[in-house]
Amino acid sequence: MKKVIAIYPGSFDPLTNGHLDLIERGSKIFDQLIVAVLRNPEKAPLFSLAERKEMLESMTQRFGNVRVESFSGLLVDYARRKRAHAVLRGIRAISDYEYELQMALMNRKLDPRLETVFMMPAEAYSYLSSRLVKEVFHAGGSVRGLVPKMVEQRLHSKVNGKAKRAKTAKKK
Ligand code: PNS
Repeated sequence: MKKVIAIYPGSFDPLTNGHLDLIERGSKIFDQLIVAVLRNPEKAPLFSLAERKEMLESMTQRFGNVRVESFSGLLVDYARRKRAHAVLRGIRAISDYEYELQMALMNRKLDPRLETVFMMPAEAYSYLSSRLVKEVFHAGGSVRGLVPKMVEQRLHSKVNGKAKRAKTAKKK
């Protein structure tokens, strides 16, 4: 029987509970789900590619059919190499739709055999994004319940580490 392989691509900077919710939903309908972290040298992410992969790996190890990888270049080329049939993307609100539709149709133009499947995360996460998590955290707000505990701890160590380095540099 044909196994349906899907790719869930993204920046995951950082992983949120909304992403995890979608991964769980995707793992239930696809035979295999590859969470693919984009390696984008043009963007300066908060977490390195290795850190983002490590957090994803740790948080998804309970799903037997989910694995984490990274990719660069065109998504359709990566999907072809992985023999994937579908791309999974989350749609939280209508505002996501325009960008997601554009991407899905561009990917379809590049490879008509690759289908994009949209799923909705739980309503509780419909306002949640990695960008807002970073913004709230940097401004001193609480991100408890919005990201996995591990991510919350990593956010704290990143900011504390930066502050310590800045203090040491000032002393020198
Ligand atoms: O989490 P994000 O940042 O919304 O994910 C965007 C992502 C990684 C899915 C998108 O930027 C992507 O697929 N990039 C790979 C390059 C590519 O294939 N671009 C053409 C797609 S329209």
